[in-house]
Amino acid sequence: MKLKHIAVATMAATALFNITAQASEVEVLHYWTSGGEAKSVAELKKMMEAKGITWKDFAVAGGGGENAMTALKARVIAGSAPTAAQIKGPSIQEWGKEGVLANIDAAAIEGKWDASLPKVVSSIMKYQGHYVAAPVNVHRVNWLWVNPEVLKKAGAKAPGNWAEFFDAADKIKKAGMIAIAHGGQPWQDATVFESVALGVGGADFYKKAIVQLDPASLTGPTMIKTFDTLAKIKTYIDKGAAGRDWNLATAMVINGKAGMQFMGDWAKGEFTAAGKVPGKDYLCLTAPGTEKAFTFNIDSLTMFKVKDDQQAAQLSLASAVMSPEFQEVFNLNKGSIPARSGVSRAKFDSCAIKSMNDMEATSASGGLVPSFAHGMAIDSAKAGAIQDVIAKFMNSNMTSQAAVVALAKAAKTR
Ligand code: BGC
Repeated sequence: MKLKHIAVATMAATALFNITAQASEVEVLHYWTSGGEAKSVAELKKMMEAKGITWKDFAVAGGGGENAMTALKARVIAGSAPTAAQIKGPSIQEWGKEGVLANIDAAAIEGKWDASLPKVVSSIMKYQGHYVAAPVNVHRVNWLWVNPEVLKKAGAKAPGNWAEFFDAADKIKKAGMIAIAHGGQPWQDATVFESVALGVGGADFYKKAIVQLDPASLTGPTMIKTFDTLAKIKTYIDKGAAGRDWNLATAMVINGKAGMQFMGDWAKGEFTAAGKVPGKDYLCLTAPGTEKAFTFNIDSLTMFKVKDDQQAAQLSLASAVMSPEFQEVFNLNKGSIPARSGVSRAKFDSCAIKSMNDMEATSASGGLVPSFAHGMAIDSAKAGAIQDVIAKFMNSNMTSQAAVVALAKAAKTR
């Protein structure tokens, strides 16, 4: 009898312990594993731990997040979704349709999210009118990262348009350095492609071709010119690019092995982590011809349905993500800018200030466009098929004519 009581008491205590252990834990799936990225996400972990909530890290390496999405699908199918996952853009709607996302309106109402987020951001975070995700930042994708020391050695000047870009690339190559640092992975190929399309055709063309998938724009002369430009860019990429991670390509620009890289401003996180100063050690230029446009890529933590006893911790994570303190420190490390208003600009560098000003200006002018390469513009099936065409173009001698035909076909993927 006594023994039985003890057993029951122990069981109850264990159950209680489990409840509290679970209640104060968040498991977060992300792919922030490079130097700058890891520093950024560590800040969120610190904040959660300061609230007494355990951080269970579910990091899946692989730039652009393809591996992470595969891991996430497996977990959701197995019925053990994490508390939150780094999912963005139209994919949030795709997950919403599966019925697995959590409603976090309670955090959004308390934190007045509607009032502190631009509409372009808040609408992505909602599924059927309810918040299911919290935005951490706005990345700009149409950047060109440049090492001014390499330019100087090569006798080249910072490029402002395509002619100057290819002139600089020629000079860097002739001087025995690598002109363009690149990693041959499909998402990196797609990143270069979208900046080239934007620079060659402008924001209206980009919207028509890459967001609305208008067949005539996908196969017309401007898209041919886009692929021709891409083919020319290929000739300045070194043989070692195949499979190279993006941060290793950035490191080549940082240490002066290469002159320039097309990449979103998570690359700035690597320059920052290496102690480099913008305007002095490196230049953040808009990709040639894209000065008046802005490809946005908004990272967000999307929340999955959790057991009742875990909801408080989940809402606490959502509130932390949207706090001005987090948005400041995370983005100082990440290279991006805060997604919300009300964060002081004081500590941000000249690249971030340019990004903030340009986002505002392009939002008014119509130059603000969603990044296709980073899952902001079209659904994942179409984006995947288009990305495959671009990767094939980058890795073969496919003609521009054949590429546009394949592109238009891929755009019809369901
Ligand atoms: C994400 C960034 C990340 C980058 C490299 C992008 O798609 O939005 O947060 O740093 O990929 O993995």
